[in-house]
Amino acid sequence: MKIKDSANQLLLAFESSLALNGNRMPNEPLFAGVDLGTAYTVTAVVNAAGMPVAGALTRSRSSIRDGLVLDYTGAIAMVRQQVKLLHEAGFTIKSAAAAYPPGTTGRNAQAFANVLEAAGLQAVGLIDEPTAASLVLEITDGAVVDIGGGTTGISVIRDGEVVYTADEATGGIHVDLVIAGHYKISTEEAEKIKTDPTQQATIFSLIRPVFQKMASIVNHHLRRHPVTSLYLVGGTSCFPGIEEVIETETGLSVERPVNPLLVTPLGIALSCLKTALGEQHGMGKTR
Ligand SMILES: Nc1ncnc2c1ncn2[C@@H]1O[C@H](COP(=O)(O)OP(=O)(O)OP(=O)(O)O)[C@@H](O)[C@H]1O
Ligand SMILES: [Mg+2]
Repeated sequence: MKIKDSANQLLLAFESSLALNGNRMPNEPLFAGVDLGTAYTVTAVVNAAGMPVAGALTRSRSSIRDGLVLDYTGAIAMVRQQVKLLHEAGFTIKSAAAAYPPGTTGRNAQAFANVLEAAGLQAVGLIDEPTAASLVLEITDGAVVDIGGGTTGISVIRDGEVVYTADEATGGIHVDLVIAGHYKISTEEAEKIKTDPTQQATIFSLIRPVFQKMASIVNHHLRRHPVTSLYLVGGTSCFPGIEEVIETETGLSVERPVNPLLVTPLGIALSCLKTALGEQHGMGKTR
């Protein structure tokens, strides 16, 4: 199934709202979502209509690693900083939903909500990342493939429910390592080359094997959980041409939204709104 135009419009609206130059409507209720990732921490803010109005994105600096909060203090400081930035731009958020990577359970999942609370936000709702992504993409069936900084996550969704999930090492960091090794440069410099649109075509053949490895992870997990469509999310999915490698290696239809990096954070904010509406109608928390 193709990704709807409305989903891409929403992502583009969120992308522009990151500039924080939108006008804040007085007294407009705000709903937020915080995505604590290995590479980036992203906060998304939507209004009661589910339209993105603001957001913040920062490099994570080793506070989170592959689904675990390693450095609590660092993670809290990062969220606090984003809340302050949003407040200064006129978007005062008091509560937010948190999300945890697929396969995270119990206390490890709760840790993501605890970071929000410690940063002064009321944590309303805790959702798994692929379900958050599916809220934006408006999909009920298929596999969400989240290629982030540290890992490639595969989540199979059937009738709107996550029925299988796996997360394996191999993400953007591994792409950086290959570039750094080849050019004998630091991973920071490698990251700059990788995200520079004018250099991406040149390094494509060098990093193709890393994308093939990601595809083989997908193939391995989908063998027992067949789907017909893959939906690429996560920052590494931004790399032009990665979708073709995944398509060739898996033989499946691959859909990529306009900005894969922003899908999950926006979905977390939408889940915050959904929880709030559910509570308003006396339905209790959605998740
Ligand atoms: N335009 C781009 N092209 C290629 N890679 C990109 C681009 N933009 C960001 N990335 C990469 O995306 C990764 C971060 O993606 P994302 O924010 O989805 O990961 P994360 O959620 O922090 O990590 P994880 O899901 O592994 O915990 C980084 O490795 C970054 O280099
Ligand atoms: Mg992630």
